[in-house]
This record gives sequence, C-alpha cells and structure tokens, in this order.
Amino acid sequence: MPIGIFDSGLGGLTVFEEIQNLLPHENLIYIADSAFAPYGDKDSVFIVRRACLLADFLVQTYHIKALVVACNTATGAAVHILRERLDIPVIGMEPAIKPAVALTQSGVVAVLATSNTLASDKFSKLLDSHQHQARIIIQPCVGWVETIEQGTLYSNWTRALVAKYVQPLLDVGVDTFVLGCTHYPLLEPVMRDLVGDQVHIISTGRAVARQLHHQLLLQHALNQHTEHGNTSFWTSGEKKQVTSMASLLFQQEMVFNPLPQQYETIIVEFSLEKKQQLLFQALLQSEDGLAFVRCVHGVQQLWTTSAQVETLKEWLKCLPKSFNLCILQEYVWTGE
Ligand code: DGL
Repeated sequence: MPIGIFDSGLGGLTVFEEIQNLLPHENLIYIADSAFAPYGDKDSVFIVRRACLLADFLVQTYHIKALVVACNTATGAAVHILRERLDIPVIGMEPAIKPAVALTQSGVVAVLATSNTLASDKFSKLLDSHQHQARIIIQPCVGWVETIEQGTLYSNWTRALVAKYVQPLLDVGVDTFVLGCTHYPLLEPVMRDLVGDQVHIISTGRAVARQLHHQLLLQHALNQHTEHGNTSFWTSGEKKQVTSMASLLFQQEMVFNPLPQQYETIIVEFSLEKKQQLLFQALLQSEDGLAFVRCVHGVQQLWTTSAQVETLKEWLKCLPKSFNLCILQEYVWTGE
C-alpha cells in the first residue's frame, strides 16, 4: 500500500523529496491542489473541505497506509479533523521552533509562514510552549507562495521580495530562521545569499520523513521490497502547467494527472446586495463545508464540489426571498 502526500501546490514536494530519500522503497502518491493555491489566505472551513476531499481520494483510490499533510497551513486547519476521520497514521507539519530555540545564540528567532498558519490555534500553542526560551518573531511572507508556484525563484523581483521580509529581521538580531511553510525551502538559496553562512535556516521536511518512518515501523507497515518505489502525481490544477513547473522547480520529471471529476470544484457566480453579504456568509458557514464564498473583481463566487453542487442549489432555493440572490453562471474551475 502506498503513502499519500498532499499540499496546496508544489511546495509539499520539498517534503516528498525527503520522504523519497529516507524511504526509497515506498510507493508515494502526491497531490498538488494547485487550483486552490495558495491556502495561506483562504478560509479555514474551505481548507478543511479540500483536505477531506483529497484524503478521500487517496483512501478510496489507493487505500493509502499513511497520510502526510505536507502543508503547514492545512495542518493548522485540518489535521485534527483528518485524524478523527481516518484510521491510518496522519502526519502533519510543525514549524521547527524547538530546534531553533536550542540553536540560537543571539536569542532572537524568526518563524516565517503563511498568515493562516501563524493565526492557527495549533501554532499559538506551539509558540506559547517556547516563548520563554527566546524572543520569537513571527512573520507572514505575503507573496512568497505565489512567486514559487510561478517558478520564478531567482529573479531580481524575487530577491527583493525575500529581502523585504528577511532584512528587517536580520536588523533586529535574528540568527535563526524557521521555515514554517513547505514552499519556502525553495527560496533557501536566495535567503542564504542574503543572510550569509552564520545564520541558521531550518525546515521540517526531514523531521517529518523521520516521523513517518517511525509510525510505519510501529505499525509494521514498512515496504519490504528492495526495488525503488513507484510514484504518482495528481493535481486539481492544469496538468501540463503543473507538470512543467514541477520539473522546473525540482529538476526531475514528475508527470501530473488531473484529479477525477468528483474532486473538481464548481464555481457558481451570483449577485447579492452588499448589506446582505455578511449575513449570507454567516449562514453559509453554518452549513459546514458546503461551499466557500469569495469575491473576485466585484463578482461574488461560491466554490463547491460537483458532489455538493446540487445540495448547494437546494440550499440557495430555501433562502428567504428578501435575500434577492441571483445566480449569474455556473462553471467548472480548471485551475487557469
Ligand atoms: N505549502 C503550504 C504551507 O506549508 C501552503 C502555502 C499556501 O498555499 O499558502 O503552508
């Protein structure tokens, strides 16, 4: 049985590589949920919904023996729910604050992650348990994930974007950076040019691979084959684009397949008066994962799955007439 791994996009492949290095005989299935990257600015209800769908695909199609949530943002939002739903080991990410406070000499550590990770309860608890050991500065790095997903790792623009967040931290004495997002190790070379050799940059991929190994040992579930394991790659995004971007970023051929239709997302566009939008969002949220609402260029959108779209339409029909909600169009999101 294989191991399932997923992320919002290609960043989780930094974890995938560590797993492949440590456990070369295991079969690995990777999903890049690229149609929805980044997760860092999405509602947590939506992230939970995507995480559960991706886990369902891995369990139903591949009967995976373990799941690795190779995404700090999805771990913060959904790992506890995935653990409740699945009866296999579920391994999540945890920013490496513990080793960082042990390493720092200046006593100032920075954790770089998405806003969602830094705002999660899970992260607050982790931070609280180390707060007294060092000064820990948290820094959301807006735009880093998007830049990496576009494959522009070494442009002048990327260097400036990295410096924008890293330089002020160096200026206040940070000597240890924790990469709390699985995309960020791809920017480590650019960070290294900026911070020099004396500063520590810590990521979590290897520790997660070791944790996975430990869990499989406990379950007597390690693959006993001596040949290299198989790999298979899936995406909710545009498969050609994701395939070429992954090969560019990781210098190895990874051919991505499109996720089956029932894991696709349907977008329903609608109009609603401004003063009713908040109430509508609150009502929708209480429906737990039926859809995710967002506004793009002034147009309201509901994002849902093909499995949920009929239920969603029924729900919309039952809204009080005073809402005056008008559906404009419905289409399948193809990740473009
Ligand atoms: N790779 C992710 C993480 O570790 C996701 C970032 C995002 O999609 O915003 O947080």
